[in-house]
Amino acid sequence: MTTVAAPSAGTALDRVDGPEKVTGRARYAYENVPADLAYAVVVQATVSRGEVRAVDADSVLQLPGMIATIWHENAPRLAPVEDAELTVLQSPRVAYRGQVVAVVVAETLESATEAARLLRVDYRPEPHDVELRPDHPGMYRPDHVNPNYATDSELGDPDTALAFASVVVDATYTTPAQHHNPIEPHATVALWDADGLTLYDATQSTSGVRATIAPLFALPPESVRVISPYVGGGFGGKGAPHAQVVLAALAAKQVGRPVKLAATRRQMFAVTGYRTPTVQRVRLGADEDGKLSAIVHEAFEQTATIKEFAEQTTVVTRMMYAAPHRRTSHRLVRLDVPVPTWMRAPGETPGMFALESAMDELAVACGIDPVELRVRNEPTIDPERGLPFSSRNLVACLRGGAERFGWAGRDPEPGVRRRGRQLIGTGVASSTYPVYRMPSQASARAEPGGGFTVRIAAADIGTGARTVLTQIAADALRVPPAQVRMEVGDSALPRASVAGGSSGTASWGTAVLRACEGLMDALHRRAGDVPPGGLEASADTAEELRSQRPLSRHAYGAQFAEVGVDLDTGEVRVLRLLGAFAAGRIINPKTARSQLIGGMTMGLSMALLEESVMDLEFGDYLNRDLAQYHVAACADVRDVDAFWIEEEDPDLNPMGSKGIGEIGIVGTAAAIANAVYHATGIRVRDLPIRLDRLI
Ligand code: MOS
Repeated sequence: MTTVAAPSAGTALDRVDGPEKVTGRARYAYENVPADLAYAVVVQATVSRGEVRAVDADSVLQLPGMIATIWHENAPRLAPVEDAELTVLQSPRVAYRGQVVAVVVAETLESATEAARLLRVDYRPEPHDVELRPDHPGMYRPDHVNPNYATDSELGDPDTALAFASVVVDATYTTPAQHHNPIEPHATVALWDADGLTLYDATQSTSGVRATIAPLFALPPESVRVISPYVGGGFGGKGAPHAQVVLAALAAKQVGRPVKLAATRRQMFAVTGYRTPTVQRVRLGADEDGKLSAIVHEAFEQTATIKEFAEQTTVVTRMMYAAPHRRTSHRLVRLDVPVPTWMRAPGETPGMFALESAMDELAVACGIDPVELRVRNEPTIDPERGLPFSSRNLVACLRGGAERFGWAGRDPEPGVRRRGRQLIGTGVASSTYPVYRMPSQASARAEPGGGFTVRIAAADIGTGARTVLTQIAADALRVPPAQVRMEVGDSALPRASVAGGSSGTASWGTAVLRACEGLMDALHRRAGDVPPGGLEASADTAEELRSQRPLSRHAYGAQFAEVGVDLDTGEVRVLRLLGAFAAGRIINPKTARSQLIGGMTMGLSMALLEESVMDLEFGDYLNRDLAQYHVAACADVRDVDAFWIEEEDPDLNPMGSKGIGEIGIVGTAAAIANAVYHATGIRVRDLPIRLDRLI
């Protein structure tokens, strides 16, 4: 007799890897210690532009435990690939301060660190330019913006519409450079043997690292194996391999031994990516009732000289609100700076800070409640693509959030509520994130001794992916989750897409589900009999994805904030943060809530604290550690909560889920800035909201 297990999806299953993590058995990249291991430490350029004239390897030769110094003159040649961030130590050119110009390898980490400190490098410096200015003569129009959106868009005649609008908001907002600071810094252990290259790497995509690194060493992908079962956070910084992965592999090749290379926290501020600073001009035209006639959103951003990274900052504005006239654009300048990369909701995060701040300014100018203003400008179809929405419950989030937050009866007058030494204010902002889905493969196997093993090269970067995939598999196999063993984080497993773009559950979950369905069919044909060698089925979702019908698919949310601003010091405290989300079916309420409030906390941090400060003279980010680059600490995070509304959307994927990894950060900073305006009457358009911007 068969008993069917109760569905696991929808229940708050504890993390299946929780015990490994809290008992220290989970092994992270840096904790791998192959025999004969050597330690590598990087030497970073101390000029912002120029050339390495000489590396004096003799200067460290006599240090104890020294094995090798590697620089552009003696480094193994890499195959030429387009990504100049990865073709390390191939030329004397220095493109930014902090770029790796040499690697020293030694018997111990201490020896290597000392050698890196003492190594004499002589430079021929050139004048540098590291300042992002919207009027920079080098501003150019990139061919497209990430991941592949049109650079500009235009509908109707926004200039004329603005000229005739009854109410106009015209404001410029800036967001600073921000650096990811996952608890686990980037780390790689590289090992060459007869089979090729093995990398223990902290990454959001073992399949991606394999595909990117193999060609650099002229290897077929099968000759590179990337192992990454546990990752201590990524936020996009580990979405693609950076220089240290190549350097570890290259050093291991050079010295003929396994090599371990970790970026220190300080090194991460130059070599593992960051969020570009932005300057954004937003113009909104509306009638007296707050109905938008025109939206113009222009973004100015920086990229590196060695690689273009074009953040899609204003793309979100193309689908957010209805307006007959609209223009969005992106302009970039190549500066002598490190290469920017994805950082949690790249594009939406800075873009929605500007748009949602401007919407608040419009609400004030029109004398309309900011929740109501957004509801009035709700589009019926995607304004840019002309497609129906698969589901769009922004209004339900705004209304539902307002009710739970206690928004009704809010006095719009700024700067009039006092509680003790604080001025009190509340603010709201919309949130959204696209629904991405990527092809993936998976396998499911019925084990002869009972139980199931499901394999996919997915990455659990702390999100709970392993747990949620276990739930999806358990339901498809009609067994309790305890009978499913989920293997992830290894490029030897069936190929999977990156843990990025909030696409993991949708992409990997579909592959897991299809593999399990295939296995169930096979078992059914055998009347449930598992052969002595076990029974396996596999799936590839590429075809299924191609047949998706065109619709506008996005998750939505509304962020509500209450702040207290100290009357004397200008110190801002976020007293309450509430997010209301509509993200399809929630598969695990516990891990989902953690993702959402985690994103909101990062948004709080962005609003008040995070800022990488560029020193124009030295051409480098100054505050390169957690003592100087402030992220929200427990004391900054008080009452942060998230909830979601039930959303049925049959046009997403078999699970009916939308991504939740990134939407939590989107809109949060605007909600807080809008609350600060309500508290103080001061409109802060430049993040972070520092004390000096309020007094
Ligand atoms: Mo996320 S920035 O797509 O890793």
